[in-house]
Amino acid sequence: MATLIDGKRISQEIKDELKAKVEALKEQGKEICLAVIQVGNDPASTVYVGNKKKACAYIGIKSLAYELPEETKEDELLELIKKLNDDDSVHGILVQLPLPKHMDEDKVIDTISPAKDVDGFHVQSVGALSIGRPGFVSCTPAGIIQLLKRSNIEIEGKECVVIGRSNIVGKPMSMLLLRENGTVTVCHSRTKNLKEVTKRADILVAAIGKPKFIDASYVKEGATVIDVGIHRQENGKLCGDVDFESVEPIAGAITPVPGGVGPMTIAMLMNNCVEAGERA
Ligand code: GUN
Repeated sequence: MATLIDGKRISQEIKDELKAKVEALKEQGKEICLAVIQVGNDPASTVYVGNKKKACAYIGIKSLAYELPEETKEDELLELIKKLNDDDSVHGILVQLPLPKHMDEDKVIDTISPAKDVDGFHVQSVGALSIGRPGFVSCTPAGIIQLLKRSNIEIEGKECVVIGRSNIVGKPMSMLLLRENGTVTVCHSRTKNLKEVTKRADILVAAIGKPKFIDASYVKEGATVIDVGIHRQENGKLCGDVDFESVEPIAGAITPVPGGVGPMTIAMLMNNCVEAGERA
């Protein structure tokens, strides 16, 4: 029986710590403010953006919502970002992805001032992470580090295996585990003998994008298993990249889906907003 890593509880703990911090900053006359930009009306993005606004309201962060039509020209979006960069009352800027096809996502993200890049997606933020300089870190991997630390799971010297090499999760995850002195291996779709590698892991992070891909045959007994995936099954229930029923009996600790990694992403976004405000 594995220990359940309760992301819902840990994210609540973080949000309550931030709420107290934001109140203290308010007493000093500083109101933290996040600008959230959504272009078009992708339904999933609308849900994500709504959850971010809700979290801001809970913590006491002011949120400015910019809902731009799908046909918005790239230049107009860039102008808005530049205006927000120059506005000292705005501490964080978030452009919800994906953007419409006529926009260059890299160009848009790299227009955000690194000091306000609370998603940690700017090329400078990513570079800073890889050479151990200060900067904002992508929220999902930063949240996973918090899950491990707050569950007293040691990273230093441990075999850490990350499956997935995306810019948002896999790559920054590997950098963060390395920063914590883990021994890190990154696997991906072309990895040969995946099972042989994953079975070495003391800490296994699954960010594959395939429902229930990781069963017990991929996992060493007693390992910590972190599931980044989220998928809607035919029966309407959510599942992750890990086959929970198969893995839970042999793992040492495991995150559930839902209620594991998911809630940590927004908590860390809020953390980055507060940090941006403190630094400003
Ligand atoms: N789209 C899906 N996840 C994210 C995220 O974490 N940040 C942004 N900006 N867009 C997303």
